[in-house]
Amino acid sequence: MKILITGGAGFIGSNIAESLLNDKRTSLVRVLDNLETGHLSNIESIINHPKFEFINGDIRKIDECNKACIDIDVICHQAALGSVPRSIANPLATHQTNVNGFINMLESARQNNIKRFVYASSSSVYGDLQESPKVESRVGKVLSPYASTKMTNELYAESYSKCYEMTIIGFRYFNVFGPKQDPEGPYAAVIPLFIKAALQGKSPIINGDGTITRDFTPVDNVVQINTNAIFNELEPNKHYVFNVACGQTTSLNKLWQIIKNITGSKADAIHGPNRKGDILHSLADVNLAKKHLDYKPEFLLEPFLSKTVEWYKTICIKS
Ligand SMILES: NC(=O)c1ccc[n+]([C@@H]2O[C@H](COP(=O)([O-])OP(=O)(O)OC[C@H]3O[C@@H](n4cnc5c(N)ncnc54)[C@H](O)[C@@H]3O)[C@@H](O)[C@H]2O)c1
Repeated sequence: MKILITGGAGFIGSNIAESLLNDKRTSLVRVLDNLETGHLSNIESIINHPKFEFINGDIRKIDECNKACIDIDVICHQAALGSVPRSIANPLATHQTNVNGFINMLESARQNNIKRFVYASSSSVYGDLQESPKVESRVGKVLSPYASTKMTNELYAESYSKCYEMTIIGFRYFNVFGPKQDPEGPYAAVIPLFIKAALQGKSPIINGDGTITRDFTPVDNVVQINTNAIFNELEPNKHYVFNVACGQTTSLNKLWQIIKNITGSKADAIHGPNRKGDILHSLADVNLAKKHLDYKPEFLLEPFLSKTVEWYKTICIKS
């Protein structure tokens, strides 16, 4: 199987790439990434692998997407501009990458006769839906431009699967964390920020009173389900959407406590205002993915956080 991973120099994409290169069923892993938020350091251990190719290119340019799709069997589309606050600050940039780039990739898949397309959606599509846990068949009203882009992805995926006989599998990721997630910059995610603060003996800032909850998901579970989506049998020419999470709920206050226990930090968190666009409570029902894709969320929050902290200790965290 020859696999194209867009966004493969990013956090999730590079973890998938590394794992697929160790899979006997893979004959090529090609990464398309413009390094906007990803880093070559994420792929330095695999860049010289004989089955690996890197293209420094942009999904907003259809000709670059087309070139990357030559001879490919399956696309694993991870490239996007993440972060709700980034999308509120610059909705146009988020739209151009997440929507225009997404349809470029679908279109390149169609033109190159690539019949399976796996992509990253997001739990943000649940928006203001109060019910818990979230099941795939019911969503609420979106709360941010980022969520709008991911919802749009799902709509295009649906129509492409119907009009062009493609098997398209979307994953609503719930707060993924693990090695290689960027702890730097204004849009860093909560777990890298908390670990960075803990390792530097500083107080993290918790937006709000810390009672908002998340279904934190180890990246190795995400790698597992992407691998299953690439290789497993599925009824063809359909669009599937699955939650990808642990099915466990943790408040931000509890998360900081766990990270304090792992790192030995004595610092207390500082509470700031709630963030616009944030979902308050996010917990997934993962039964659909278990049923159709043999998903087994075998990596759980606390042990995987310990592994993640060890990884952050090995990189130079800027103060
Ligand atoms: N990390 C999470 O918790 C989470 C949650 C829900 C959804 N997602 C989605 O998962 C996917 C991967 O997220 P991540 O956390 O690894 O983010 P990331 O920022 O680490 O990775 C995204 C990658 O896409 C690349 N990219 C951005 N714009 C591009 C463009 N125009 N052309 C080519 N490459 C481009 C970046 O350089 C980066 O390497 C994204 O689609 C994101 O929206 C992530």
